[in-house]
Amino acid sequence: MTGQDASRMDTARSVLHQGEEAVTFREMKLEDIPQIIEVEHESFTVPWTAEAFRNELMHNQYAHYIVMEQEDLIIGYAGMWLIFDEAHITNIAVREKYRGKKLGYRLLRELVRAARTLGADKMTLEVRVSNQVAQNLYAKFGFRPVGLRKGYYSDNHEDALIMWAEVRDQE
Ligand SMILES: CC(C)(COP(=O)(O)OP(=O)(O)OC[C@H]1O[C@@H](n2cnc3c(N)ncnc32)[C@H](O)[C@@H]1OP(=O)(O)O)[C@@H](O)C(=O)NCCC(=O)NCCS
Repeated sequence: MTGQDASRMDTARSVLHQGEEAVTFREMKLEDIPQIIEVEHESFTVPWTAEAFRNELMHNQYAHYIVMEQEDLIIGYAGMWLIFDEAHITNIAVREKYRGKKLGYRLLRELVRAARTLGADKMTLEVRVSNQVAQNLYAKFGFRPVGLRKGYYSDNHEDALIMWAEVRDQE
């Protein structure tokens, strides 16, 4: 990511509403990768490697990644590739112990905001057809299923549901 992009993607926020966990959002840094890998391993059957994240942060000009943290603990992260006005979500995960507390919602809200700030009008993603929890989360942001990628996942050849959302007018 260029320095210019980094300054445009100002995601640090600490506004707290009643009953919300105190968390902050910021861009992912190389030093975060060991913690990201911990979350990755408790979240996905085919986790990305540290090398994959390093490549994303260092060499992919389209990639934008944010982390959600509580003090120094990274409790979630999300990323996307932004190409013109389309943002493709690559991953989103919350540490297992922290799930079910609206943190995934807040993390995705932050990613959508960042995408809009960077000029995205639409967002897309793939999700396992069996991952109803994630599909429910995405539906809250207007993501709708538009098709399937047959046998997309390498571990069990599960189909991916392709979802799209218009985000230009989202808050
Ligand atoms: C998907 C994930 C990020 C959701 O994070 P979370 O913090 O647990 O989610 P939240 O508490 O913010 O819930 C947001 C919405 O998700 C859905 N959801 C969350 N937990 C759910 C559950 N157990 N059952 C059904 N829907 C659920 C609901 O729509 C919920 O909104 P609601 O509380 O108003 O009903 C988290 O479960 C995760 O990290 N999973 C493993 C990684 C993964 O599958 N990522 C998506 C890959 S495409």
